[in-house]
Amino acid sequence: MAVVGGGVIGLACAWRLAQRGASVRVFDPAAGAGASHAAAGMLAPVTEVHHGEEPLLALNLASAQLWPAFAAELVEAAGIDVGYRTGGTLAVALDDDDLRSLDELRGFQESLRLSVTRLTSRECRAREPSLSPRVRGGVLAANDHQVDSRLTVQALLAAVERSGVTLVRESVTALSVTGRAVTAVHTTSGPHPCRSVVVAAGSWSADIDGSPPAVMPPVRPVKGQILRLRFDPAAAPLQGTVRGLAAGRSVYLVPRSHGELVVGATVEEVGFDTTLTAGAVHDLLQAAIDLVPEVAELELVEATARLRPGTPDNAPLLGPTGLDGLVLATGHHRNGVLLAPITAEVIVSVVTAGTVPPVAVGFDPGRFQRCISA
Ligand code: GLY
Repeated sequence: MAVVGGGVIGLACAWRLAQRGASVRVFDPAAGAGASHAAAGMLAPVTEVHHGEEPLLALNLASAQLWPAFAAELVEAAGIDVGYRTGGTLAVALDDDDLRSLDELRGFQESLRLSVTRLTSRECRAREPSLSPRVRGGVLAANDHQVDSRLTVQALLAAVERSGVTLVRESVTALSVTGRAVTAVHTTSGPHPCRSVVVAAGSWSADIDGSPPAVMPPVRPVKGQILRLRFDPAAAPLQGTVRGLAAGRSVYLVPRSHGELVVGATVEEVGFDTTLTAGAVHDLLQAAIDLVPEVAELELVEATARLRPGTPDNAPLLGPTGLDGLVLATGHHRNGVLLAPITAEVIVSVVTAGTVPPVAVGFDPGRFQRCISA
């Protein structure tokens, strides 16, 4: 069995498949160096809910519930702490317009029966004393947590290796298809015969020759620029994840226990472009400093740009395709880390039992084809 793509999704699938006894090869020239390397690791179905994405919410909530056990098992398997932290997420607003937007979102969250609590400015600052006194109010989402995405990738790499998965550091350029079935993946070193292929190559998932165009995933790259700053762990600027609107600019700040503050992220529809831009870095820092002034004193250690795999409805493509043996696990857009545990469960069910679990039925890779031909 071949897994194309060694990000958090491909590795999680490979790990779970190997645990079920499959002989798995993961193909990636730079495993973990794509979108997973940039990801903030927010496990945030509530604060990231968007109008029109209600079906995705159910999947996100289901995966969030899997995370505690997934993290514990991964730590045990890999011997690496993945930094799974509970404690909730505080969303705050800097000015009156920001507060109106936050309250509108809270109304939507409440209409979906999500657990959110409105906090006054004083209550926000009692929770996070470093917040600017200008902050007008906030909303606490007690069930939105975080994990260290880079440690998660390291742990998954160790876990897959320990479970017998082979990591092939090459790109898959094409598939061999005989009749209606996939029979091999091709890399620069030649063909690698296989009867099942899980495509988990993020924004590059459609960049594989040889299969009928109708089965290739409609993914598009959605650029995210994200920053990493350093703080003294004995004097953390924040106790937990803070999201915010600052004069209309959206930002999140995710503190890690080892002294890293992740500040993100842009959402840009600019194709396969990963240029770091001064304007994006400026806007992210401006919004972060407006909300938490002491961020201005922290060391800026990294700016990164990577590509989220978006789809027409911004929900993932999970399950079988019209080609026997070709399975998709891609298009996770803003939710790759969050959706890794449930994606792996779905793919194991599809590959080993030939069934799509009920939670994934709405994410059939063929759903856009049907819309077009209807
Ligand atoms: N989920 C955070 C992001 O996509 O930036």
